[in-house]
Amino acid sequence: MPSLYDRADIYDLIENEERHGWYKRHWETVLRDTGIHSLLDVSIGSGSVTLPLAELGVQLSGSDLSGAMLENCAKKADGQGLSVELKRSDFRDLSCWAGRVFDCVASTGNSLPYVPNAEAGDVLARMDALVKPGGYLYCDTRNWDAILETRQRFYLYNPFFDGDTRVNLMQVWDYPADGSIIFNLLYTFEQDNRIFQKEIFEERYHPIPRKLLLDALAELGYQEVEQFPFPAFVNQDPEQAEWYCVLAQKPLGIV
Ligand SMILES: C[S@@+](CC[C@H](N)C(=O)[O-])C[C@H]1O[C@@H](n2cnc3c(N)ncnc32)[C@H](O)[C@@H]1O
Repeated sequence: MPSLYDRADIYDLIENEERHGWYKRHWETVLRDTGIHSLLDVSIGSGSVTLPLAELGVQLSGSDLSGAMLENCAKKADGQGLSVELKRSDFRDLSCWAGRVFDCVASTGNSLPYVPNAEAGDVLARMDALVKPGGYLYCDTRNWDAILETRQRFYLYNPFFDGDTRVNLMQVWDYPADGSIIFNLLYTFEQDNRIFQKEIFEERYHPIPRKLLLDALAELGYQEVEQFPFPAFVNQDPEQAEWYCVLAQKPLGIV
């Protein structure tokens, strides 16, 4: 079954001005008073979430496993006259950034749960190695604890539009016995109330418990860990939010 990230053009159809504005406000809220001027996103994808940072004046770098997603990111950055340094890399091996340090190293878009829980701590350690002393590690994720409580299977999104084409997205989630969750994504494309194209993708996630994430950060020496709902400007308890993010400050003494 193909991955949605091979079809960055379809992945990006959900984006619009309103969502772009949310991401910008999200970063304004999260980064307030942090003094972050450089940020590396190790799962930048097509840049929907992090390109707005470049607009806010942050020096943005990014890597991702998917060449198609990176290509779209570069196109979007060019179109907006933004400068972003991009590399293709698995976040389980961040050697392409060796010798560099950033004010903040991030993994955006619920991407850390692509690796099994046993590997997530190691990814965070590799990200941590690229954070300046006093800098920050950031990660946003779905609220997997809440998902595992309800085990909801069917998700229907509001339609979005590509010119005069209406795009419908439905997801059906499977919960196999190994503890992973498979997202089955069905996109239908229609004009004049007639579907003329269907695309199906499959993504496998490894639900990451909040405690595992917070324990892994504590083990790396991060004592100052803030949690926000995602997006951060909504007035919601991050424990209850559908998505949340963590921003952890690296102690100055740790190199
Ligand atoms: C849901 S998308 C999020 C993309 C982007 N951060 C955003 O929010 O639009 C998940 C991204 O994680 C990337 N990804 C998955 N596994 C990865 C890995 N092991 N290393 C680096 N990137 C990975 C995918 O290629 C995809 O671009």
